[in-house]
Amino acid sequence: MFNGKKVSLCITGGIAAYKAAEIVSWLKQNNALVQVAMTKSACRFITPLTMQTLSANKVMTDIFCEEVEGVAHIELAKTDLFAVIPATANIMAKAAHGLADDLISAAILATKAPLLFAPAMNVNMYENVHTQSNIKHLTSVGAELVEPAEGRLACGDVGRGRLASVQELKDKISSMLLAKQDFAGKTVLVTAGPTIEAIDPVRYLANRSSGKMGYAIAKAAKMRGAKVILITGPTNIVQPAVDLFIPIQSATEMREAVLENFSACDIVIKAAAVADYRPLKVSEQKIKKSENLMLELVKNPDILQEIAARKGDKIICGFAAETENMHKNALLKLKNKNLDLLAANPVSGKDNAFGSDENRLTLFFKDGQVRELDKMTKDKAANTLLDAILELV
Ligand code: CTP
Repeated sequence: MFNGKKVSLCITGGIAAYKAAEIVSWLKQNNALVQVAMTKSACRFITPLTMQTLSANKVMTDIFCEEVEGVAHIELAKTDLFAVIPATANIMAKAAHGLADDLISAAILATKAPLLFAPAMNVNMYENVHTQSNIKHLTSVGAELVEPAEGRLACGDVGRGRLASVQELKDKISSMLLAKQDFAGKTVLVTAGPTIEAIDPVRYLANRSSGKMGYAIAKAAKMRGAKVILITGPTNIVQPAVDLFIPIQSATEMREAVLENFSACDIVIKAAAVADYRPLKVSEQKIKKSENLMLELVKNPDILQEIAARKGDKIICGFAAETENMHKNALLKLKNKNLDLLAANPVSGKDNAFGSDENRLTLFFKDGQVRELDKMTKDKAANTLLDAILELV
């Protein structure tokens, strides 16, 4: 699968270091050339001998490493993918601040390869303001992150901090290593997240969209060479490295931003869950409690329908969030909104896409084709959706 592509896999100290062994073995079995580097702490959790055996390659453990030819950190930096699995708070802090006081941090500074961090640590360390701001900085300058999972941690605490699943790591590595530049020269406009509609200065109407699907699409399109404009409602996700990031609040603001950027793009993917209604009047003061409150709502403009009506040769892909009659409702939206493609996702029950890291999409094409996809990570679903869009270009 990987055809001799080079992966520098750096293991930093943490109990999850043993999971890197499975990744190394899988990479090797899929014909990647793997150069493992380990910090001193990582060597206390798992031996370099294990990694050497699995990678069929000498392991780098020191900046003055004599086992490799050339200058160790520069050799480590010359690669197709630079992955840090697991990544400690310390290595991400060094990377975010450009420190280079050991083999791995120096190689991170020297590499021009795509960078991937898979953090694993105690929940308080992960949620610490410094760690979060380092992660935000690293991702804003283009590094990829596989977020840790929630659960019971080795230290006994419970929370976010477990290394992401091996499957998630494999999916991410595959998508980064195999990223074709098949969207080069294209401008893709993606909308994501909910819109929120103010009621008064302290309250609003919203929905449960997390923005994860739209962000995954924006990142995948960027990785595949597109120029990406991401217009997003409020989310809790780290801002991805895109060409233009436009945060908005309401459907009205999203409409303005979409219309302003519409002429510049070739492809529009509207993953946002736009509020269908907004309060007729936004109270200037906080509304005081009374027995009952009647809110009069007015319909928001349908942004997707509006742009699709004058799409020319642009490709327009909508989403449908459905709790029942998915096929019937999706086909109606595809037709009524004049779309090229519609990705329908369930938003209730066991496959509820809202907030989840996975999605089970069904793709409806304007020529009548229907493609039911398996449940998969949103990153993978994003790439599958982009493949389908390319068929239409
Ligand atoms: N959409 C939009 N503007 C709106 C409402 C929806 O652009 N005011 C877009 C969404 O971004 C999505 C698609 O239309 O791509 C379908 O959204 P969805 O919420 O599933 O359906 P609605 O058209 O709002 O219809 P309903 O709520 O009745 O299912």
